[in-house]
Amino acid sequence: MNIAVIGGDGTGPEVVAEGLKALKAVAKKVGFEYKTTDFNVSGERYLATGGDPAQASQPIIQADEVAQLRTFDAIYLGAVGHDKVAPGILEKGLLLKLRFELDQYINLRPVKLYPNVWTPLKDKGPADIDFVVIRENTEDVYSGMGGNTHVGTPNEIATQVMVATRFGVERAIRYAFETCRRRNNPKHRVTLVGKNNVLTFVHGLWFRAFQEIGKEYPDIEKDYNHVDACCMWFVKSPEHYDTIVTSNLFGDIITDLAAMIQGGMGVASGGNINPKGVSMYEPIGGSAPKYTGLGVINPIAAIGAMAMLLRETGAKLADAKLVDAGNRVEAAILATTPKMKSMSAGKMGFSTSQVGDLIVEAIAKA
Ligand code: IPM
Ligand code: MN
Repeated sequence: MNIAVIGGDGTGPEVVAEGLKALKAVAKKVGFEYKTTDFNVSGERYLATGGDPAQASQPIIQADEVAQLRTFDAIYLGAVGHDKVAPGILEKGLLLKLRFELDQYINLRPVKLYPNVWTPLKDKGPADIDFVVIRENTEDVYSGMGGNTHVGTPNEIATQVMVATRFGVERAIRYAFETCRRRNNPKHRVTLVGKNNVLTFVHGLWFRAFQEIGKEYPDIEKDYNHVDACCMWFVKSPEHYDTIVTSNLFGDIITDLAAMIQGGMGVASGGNINPKGVSMYEPIGGSAPKYTGLGVINPIAAIGAMAMLLRETGAKLADAKLVDAGNRVEAAILATTPKMKSMSAGKMGFSTSQVGDLIVEAIAKA
């Protein structure tokens, strides 16, 4: 298996190092070969090569680098975001660019409360918080359509177009039903999260497509929540959920809320998935500039992203060893979180690399 590694900025490289430690340990345990190739793509490089911190003055990632990335089995990403680069430049120039160019049309975000991890929800435990969000990853207000006019005047107008295509919506919904079947959770339920009481055009399309495609999955319950109600239920009754499918922006927002109920940004991982192409796995927490270089950041999210990388790449390549390896890394996380004092940076009771060592130990022992 060939993995491209983009450490990125801030704490990205630190947490990626721990995920790679887990990979090395599990490859030895299970017995498979792999190769990693580092890509130095970051805000740091952008600035060092004369990039303007205030506006995108040159590509963050070169066309030949994108072309190379296409040849890998998977991409492992640390973090995107730099405190000296204006918001939007790196996000659009790197993360969104790769999602679009590699057509990673699914954003897969498992929401799972690991054992002994603190949740702000009173009276809820690991049995209650275990679902997955499938976020459409290429359309919606992320399409980049829109603009500003009369800038600098009191009459300024801005638009940001909410785009939905039947094609894009349909492939996300199908992926959700298939994921639900694969999960085989007793609930057998897919919840569409939308806003068809106001966004009648876009979410009308989602709703109709969901009902129609849903007929092909008679074994699965079709459920619908408005996005605002979904936020309420995440806090009140997270045990309701099995598999959620939603549009890009709603998915972005609800998965940050979901990350909090599963223990915080130190825990939450995501996959940007093209089921037939090159997928990219990342901790969803960002670059955390204030913790950079201190060895205090929680690597569990990045290690979880490695577990997902192994499992999903294994499924894609029909390689049972890789799937087994992914499951083993996840089992090591389950064995490690109870030893940690907290999931928050600086409060874990261990340094970043010590948490990685605990994972390696758990993999070796299992
Ligand atoms: C995420 C992030 C990105 C998004 C940003 C960094 C562009 O918040 O992966 O959820 O909005 O998709
Ligand atoms: Mn987000």
